[in-house]
Amino acid sequence: MLDNVARIRLAYFAVVVAAVVSSVGCKRAPTYHRDVAPIVTRRCIRCHAGDDASAPPRLDTYESVVGAAPKIKYTVQRRMMPPWGADDTGICRTWRDALWLDNAELSTLVAWTEGGTPEGDPVGRAHVQPDSVPELAHVEASLDLGFDYKPGLGPTSYRCFVVDPNLDRDRFLTGIRVRFSNPQMLAQVTLFAPQTIAAEAEAIKLDQDDPAAGYSCYGSPRVDPATLVSSWTWSTPAQIFPAGTGIRLAAHRKLVAQVHYNVLNAGLNASSRTAIDLQFDDNVREATYLPLAARAMQLAPGKTYAESSAEMTVTAPSTVFGVAPRMHSLGRTMQLDRFRGASPSCVGNFDHWDFYRQRLFTYDVPLRLDAGDRLRVSCIYNTEGRAEPVLQGESIRDEECAAYLYMPSP
Ligand code: HEC
Repeated sequence: MLDNVARIRLAYFAVVVAAVVSSVGCKRAPTYHRDVAPIVTRRCIRCHAGDDASAPPRLDTYESVVGAAPKIKYTVQRRMMPPWGADDTGICRTWRDALWLDNAELSTLVAWTEGGTPEGDPVGRAHVQPDSVPELAHVEASLDLGFDYKPGLGPTSYRCFVVDPNLDRDRFLTGIRVRFSNPQMLAQVTLFAPQTIAAEAEAIKLDQDDPAAGYSCYGSPRVDPATLVSSWTWSTPAQIFPAGTGIRLAAHRKLVAQVHYNVLNAGLNASSRTAIDLQFDDNVREATYLPLAARAMQLAPGKTYAESSAEMTVTAPSTVFGVAPRMHSLGRTMQLDRFRGASPSCVGNFDHWDFYRQRLFTYDVPLRLDAGDRLRVSCIYNTEGRAEPVLQGESIRDEECAAYLYMPSP
């Protein structure tokens, strides 16, 4: 028998397939100049116009787009490009600044690649601008690691660095921008705030005891208690927190910056210097992350499909502004559902899990919760490569199933 979540998933896939099929109507065949170039300009070339040999392929001329046509079809049909990670069809709600093709754009690109990639007439081509990218309004402090770090492979490529924002009073963080001197290494940066002096001292000790710079850390910052501050990935260099809200950074306290380097992409000898710009605003509501997390996970080894989940019941009316999903490398998809009475609704589908692309997703319209609502997070893993059960934990062999709910104080 199908449980509710499985039913929602089936319905969801049916609707997506129907939407994509129905929008390939009997319109005139798309051409590059009239139909394809505007889509690629808006949605793709911000990342696909670089000269670097290791940069993603250029997609800014007819010839380059024709050359990549089979790969474009493959990657957009599977929603691998643009790189985003949360379904934005509206079936599981929609997200601010989503890097997402709507169904009409997607079917135009696919129809063009299947229709012989005609060039068409450049005369009269619409002039469009790339979609705007979020930017910080101002930068008041920077956390600069201060040196070029050469991670190499293994534990040295999952690092925690103790950093100091040098605050003499509490401030609300409302956005960050991460800068890497080597863009090929751009992967993922998560900021944590140790909540006690003892936890902060423990992080400093872990750093001192580890012979390399920083200390190895994979899931958490390995000190307790520590709370999540921000979850960032490279696809949007600046990340602005939900409007009118911020995360409190305490005066005279340090942070832990967890950096996951993409060494496979950058090469074994590559190094990079990382800096994190901070934007503050004193007139915002304080927000915190509420973790909805599986506590006693045990996944069977050798499975293409293994599931873990966690549930909570909402005790007071509240609002979720964003979700930061966390799994490790076996994770495949994560779904967040709200149950109100007997009726479930999907309120987040993170269907292209990539350990190197974790981030906070902000709802276009915040999610309201009533007392009595239940929230459930379901995580799907592939454990084929494992011979032993996979447990919940912090190390590279462990897994995690957690949705960090970004919630301002009422
Ligand atoms: C935010 C940056 C970004 C955006 C926007 C983006 N891409 Fe990409 N793309 C990349 C990166 C980086 C890669 C390299 C592989 C990877 O990291 O996934 C890539 C890889 C690809 C590849 C595979 C190339 C290969 O050789 O295998 C194709 C095809 C592609 N992108 C097409 C597109 C299309 C079409 C769009 C727009 C609809 C798009 N991308 C939007 C960053 C982006």
